[in-house]
Amino acid sequence: MTKLAIIYHSGYGHTEKMAHHVKKGAASVDGVETLILKLEDGNEDFSAANDADAIIFGSPTYMGSVSAVMKNFMEKTSPLFAKRQWKDKLAGGFTLSHSLSGDKLNALMQINIFAMQHGMIWAGFDELNQSPDGEPGKEDVMNRMGAFLGLMGQTENAPADITPPSGDLLSAEYFGKRLAETAKRFKKA
Ligand SMILES: Cc1cc2nc3c(=O)[nH]c(=O)nc-3n(C[C@H](O)[C@H](O)[C@H](O)COP(=O)(O)O)c2cc1C
Repeated sequence: MTKLAIIYHSGYGHTEKMAHHVKKGAASVDGVETLILKLEDGNEDFSAANDADAIIFGSPTYMGSVSAVMKNFMEKTSPLFAKRQWKDKLAGGFTLSHSLSGDKLNALMQINIFAMQHGMIWAGFDELNQSPDGEPGKEDVMNRMGAFLGLMGQTENAPADITPPSGDLLSAEYFGKRLAETAKRFKKA
């Protein structure tokens, strides 16, 4: 059995909603067991991640970077970094913010560098913006913001039952499936 863990923080529920759609996509792959872990302040339980073949990290973009809770978690993993405990696990990342840009790329880059520090193997988002005319911003299409380092979502100032829009949720499911399939392939190899 290939194990995939989704570790995320969410202050207001939007990243949480995306995390569950990532999980839905990952869980659709046969032979993949998925586990979802919400970070709270002071959470230091790494057992699920230590045991996983792949870890997907999700954080809202707050002030142009990952949230303080996610950063705190990252710093708490330094003993694992020293032991190379996550080396060669597959990694991916996602983030959401209010603005179309909102400096989400910086948050994804932070997650990417964090994974690289751990010696993990990064998988980005491979699908093109699926808008028929290639226009960015259409709400019902996959990868509407054309992000490739990882998965991005964009939210209105509204509760998580209304936003992010369907295209982002579709992207999340696709991303979860892609990471699960890749993790499975790696494990076999
Ligand atoms: C403290 C704070 C900082 C934020 N900073 C940004 C930002 O830099 N760029 C942006 O576009 N949105 C920003 N937002 C909006 C959030 O990224 C957006 O509402 C996101 O969906 C929140 O995710 P969550 O519900 O999982 O917490 C910020 C929100 C908060 C509360």
